Amino acid sequence: MTSSQFPDGFLFGASTASYQIEGGVAEGGRLPSIWDTFSHTPGLTFEGDTGDVACDHFHRYVDDIQAMADLGLTAYRFSMAWPRIRPTGDGEFNDEGFAFYHRILDELEKHGIEPLVTLYHWDLPQPLEDLGGWPERATVDRFVEYARRTVEEFKDRVTYWTTFNEPWCTAFLGYSSGAHAPGRSEPAVSLAAAHHLNLAHGLAYAAIKEVKPDAKVSIVLNSHLPRPWNPADPRDVEASEKIDALANRIFIDPFTVGEYPADLMAFTSDLTDWSFVQDGDLDAIKGTLDLVGVNYYSSHIVRHHAGPPSNSGEDGHKSTIHRCWPGADDVEFMPLIGKRTTMNWNVDPSGFHAHLMRMHREFGLPIIVTENGASWQDEVSEDGRIRDADRYTYLHDHMEALLLAVAEGADIRGYMAWSLMDNFEWAYGYSKRFGLLRVDYNTQARTWKDSAYWYAETIANRALTP
Ligand code: NOJ
Repeated sequence: MTSSQFPDGFLFGASTASYQIEGGVAEGGRLPSIWDTFSHTPGLTFEGDTGDVACDHFHRYVDDIQAMADLGLTAYRFSMAWPRIRPTGDGEFNDEGFAFYHRILDELEKHGIEPLVTLYHWDLPQPLEDLGGWPERATVDRFVEYARRTVEEFKDRVTYWTTFNEPWCTAFLGYSSGAHAPGRSEPAVSLAAAHHLNLAHGLAYAAIKEVKPDAKVSIVLNSHLPRPWNPADPRDVEASEKIDALANRIFIDPFTVGEYPADLMAFTSDLTDWSFVQDGDLDAIKGTLDLVGVNYYSSHIVRHHAGPPSNSGEDGHKSTIHRCWPGADDVEFMPLIGKRTTMNWNVDPSGFHAHLMRMHREFGLPIIVTENGASWQDEVSEDGRIRDADRYTYLHDHMEALLLAVAEGADIRGYMAWSLMDNFEWAYGYSKRFGLLRVDYNTQARTWKDSAYWYAETIANRALTP
């Protein structure tokens, strides 16, 4: 049996992201990002929800960080908002923006909580999208400037820096399916966006290391973990490899082997000639990681499909999911096995274990689990308690899978639950709840769910609570 004890120095944390929790969108000199524009466009988010107020963390951060301390968190992963720090994307840097994050770091320091800072969790300053956004190479330079200046500002206070959160979502939900900001459905340019994100990471890595040689720099990748419907059918295996290339290899191979997968370039050749990859780019990307961030929620089963794109398994995304996968119209997502969360995602801890082992093998680097969690229909009981056994069972089973990966040799340094509190779940608005703490959006009251008590006990014991 695997030990239920976590390794020494293991970081126990929770994650959030600026646009999902901060609110205060017009305060402190912040200007609109692509998510302000997107969420204010009628019909693009659930019931027209926006991040204008969100969890009002901009004003409530002191109490929120106190709650982290009460939970016993030893780390907190959050993102800094580019549109607060350099509001126009390419103009003046904003002292008030820096000051807000200094105040957050003051509180974290007071409680001895290690900050894990993400530079980009999807809130591109709108003026940069107006100039073309991530499909444009110039956006790479703007990101590198922002990264260098921001790390310079906080270099004495922050060691762990992540460049990008889930670049797959930025490239493919943002520019191919259009389900996320900026809402463009242009599969061909989404591949350029993916490359520019990789390149921006590589160049920012060099800039960050110049400013702070001992920074621990990561990228945070989400996994789609595709499995073939029928492993004995070569066409299904090929379908699963296609999705793996578009979900994972496109963001792994440039870092590990310094090239894009040949099969990916071949099956997308009708869309693009990949000329956006210029001489020297891959050298600038290869090897530019000190550790890897892993976000994991669920797995997929796919098979070959002849005829027009069909998506029978993904009821939640029926109309758009195939457009997330440029060049993979012949792949069908099958009904998912096991229990489903309210995101309609399946619960598959064995997939988490498999994915962690794969990331360990491929990168050979320390890993931090930067997100893992589940959205459920939480009910507040008459006694005020939120008995979210589904959530702590999910956390338990995934942390157990993590411990198994540790026992098998993966160097996993921490686990960040998604999320500290309920928040703005992008296109789903406030309809999905992932928090350890419940947020009442009428009063902004935070209430600990049973999962929060469960997690606090696990942290206190440094061992999995049964
Ligand atoms: C991944 C994203 O990084 C985060 O912003 C999102 O809320 C969660 N997954 C849940 O969908």
